Amino acid sequence: MNARIHVRLPARSDRSYDVLIRPGALQGLPGILAKRHRGAALFVVTDTNVGRLYGREVHHHLESAGLSAVLVDVPAGERSKSVECYHELAGVLLRSGIRRNSVVVGLGGGVVGDLAGFVAATVLRGVEYVQVPTSLLAQVDSSVGGKTGIDHAMGKNLIGAFHQPSLVVIDPEVLRTLPPAEFRNGLAEVVKIAAALDARFFRTLERCAHALTRTDTPLLTRIIRTAVGLKAGVVQRDEREAGLRKALNLGHTIGHAVESASGYRLRHGEAVAIGLILEGRLAVTCGVLSVNDHLRLLRLLEAFGLPTRLPRFVDRKEVLAGLAADKKNRSAVPLFVLPKKIGMSAIGVTLPADVIRAGIV
Ligand SMILES: NC(=O)c1ccc[n+]([C@@H]2O[C@H](COP(=O)([O-])OP(=O)(O)OC[C@H]3O[C@@H](n4cnc5c(N)ncnc54)[C@H](O)[C@@H]3O)[C@@H](O)[C@H]2O)c1
Ligand SMILES: [Zn+2]
Repeated sequence: MNARIHVRLPARSDRSYDVLIRPGALQGLPGILAKRHRGAALFVVTDTNVGRLYGREVHHHLESAGLSAVLVDVPAGERSKSVECYHELAGVLLRSGIRRNSVVVGLGGGVVGDLAGFVAATVLRGVEYVQVPTSLLAQVDSSVGGKTGIDHAMGKNLIGAFHQPSLVVIDPEVLRTLPPAEFRNGLAEVVKIAAALDARFFRTLERCAHALTRTDTPLLTRIIRTAVGLKAGVVQRDEREAGLRKALNLGHTIGHAVESASGYRLRHGEAVAIGLILEGRLAVTCGVLSVNDHLRLLRLLEAFGLPTRLPRFVDRKEVLAGLAADKKNRSAVPLFVLPKKIGMSAIGVTLPADVIRAGIV
């Protein structure tokens, strides 16, 4: 089973790239990089967990293939998306002799992807970036699309850049070692992609939801391929999120507010699952979405073991305040992406304040 998805960026065809999705792709990485980057120094950025499981082996194989590679690991977890960690990482790369023709390889989940991508976007005014996502969330969502960045005390992802990778290599086999809660976290983004863009994909997920495990590599490969294909289709039509790409923020307007109001006790995917349901409820209230489609969304998220209600410890007032402060808004009025029906969403929807208040329960 092999798949190569080409992401065409018409405005900047020199930045178009391939996404390779193949079980065992990690073992093939030295061969792939040797063909494309012989002579260039590689800087593999990973985190402490992924480094222990895969990083050292990948590094060893790269050197055995005659490539010059430096392995750097950052502490696992969102805290590494900080200005301090970014500064330290850039320092390590500069001291290790990174040059304009060097390549940064991000080997890890979305945290490593965003941090390493931002370093690649900015160090020496930008070097090539290869993404090797290892969490389900990163494989289906964050590794394609070119958004990179770090957090600030004022909020998540507030400092960043668009920097498209030159290649994305996805090995679904590495999901075997992903902790179950992180696997569910990624499934929330899979549901989001299907709910926002493709009713057929949503039906496929409904059929397999109860049986899907981290070790079902053939099925996961198909799911990742479909999700990446859909996301790539959107990114190549709207690289900078001027319109269509906003559809991928389904569940995220409320999701981000919930994630922040939970003090980040909820994982991103858990908050997005709750966001999908609450936004769906708003859509039902406005007569945009049918009750039956909302129920399908609820059942699928529950089948994947994701939360669908706001936990008691999350302060509703803080969620409402977070909605007003959403960085994607040009005004203080929240702009929602609402599901219209399974596979289709409406973007830039404004709602009366009392409807929003009544929906955040
Ligand atoms: N750039 C984008 O478009 C975009 C989109 C969505 C999310 N994000 C960002 O992604 C981040 C979340 O990503 P995440 O959920 O992957 O978190 P993460 O990178 O923290 O990974 C989750 C955990 O799983 C571990 N892990 C990863 N792969 C593993 C594997 N194969 N085996 C064992 N353990 C493994 C990591 O070490 C970590 O502890 C957030 O910072 C979010 O803002 C970015
Ligand atoms: Zn997300």
